[in-house]
Amino acid sequence: MGAPLRRVLHPAGSDMSESSFSWRKMAVEDLAAVGEIAALVHPDLPERPEVFTEKLRLFPDGCFVLARGAVRLGYAFAHPWRLNDAPPLDEFLNEIPLSANCLYLHDAVVLPAARGQSAASRLIVLLRALAARRALPALALVSVYGTRRLWRRFGFAVVESPELAGKLACYGASARYMIAPLS
Ligand SMILES: CC(C)(COP(=O)(O)OP(=O)(O)OC[C@H]1O[C@@H](n2cnc3c(N)ncnc32)[C@H](O)[C@@H]1OP(=O)(O)O)[C@@H](O)C(=O)NCCC(=O)NCCS
Repeated sequence: MGAPLRRVLHPAGSDMSESSFSWRKMAVEDLAAVGEIAALVHPDLPERPEVFTEKLRLFPDGCFVLARGAVRLGYAFAHPWRLNDAPPLDEFLNEIPLSANCLYLHDAVVLPAARGQSAASRLIVLLRALAARRALPALALVSVYGTRRLWRRFGFAVVESPELAGKLACYGASARYMIAPLS
């Protein structure tokens, strides 16, 4: 294992208790670390750094880093979007649609060292609050890697249609579109 990979997988320090890390707003300075984490966790679903940069520029309120001090342990990108629609992977959004009617969680990653300590649960609480502030009536996401059971726990349900199936093709065979109404 090379030094950069070891550094990302096993961040310095050993306190990985739940209270030792928290979600905070992402900054431009976080993007290099976010790219490293993404490349590590999503080797088969790569996205260009500039695609991440665009999301942070278009909707900074929906971009978060899981951090313990200066150490990044995960990230999340969310933005307003249209229900029953999934933006193509590794493509620019260009703009946030005026007709947005959900908060779409594009990606959430928690590094193995911090998993199983409710980071994803706490992220969903943040996203629900953000969607409510923006008067967006639902959360939506594309589940990959068989994470459907996890998202179901947070109120998401799978929605299927031939049109969605075409849009999910770029996310791999395990991809399922899911919606969690807020009310
Ligand atoms: C999916 C992921 C973000 C979950 O993060 P996390 O902080 O470990 O999740 P939480 O601790 O909040 O988990 C909540 C519950 O879901 C369970 N869970 C976690 N990952 C799961 C998975 N992949 N499948 C099913 N259940 C899962 C946890 O065991 C926990 O249950 P518990 O409360 O009974 O212990 C993290 O595992 C990850 O980054 N995975 C790789 C990338 C990925 O799959 N991202 C999501 C793409 S849609």
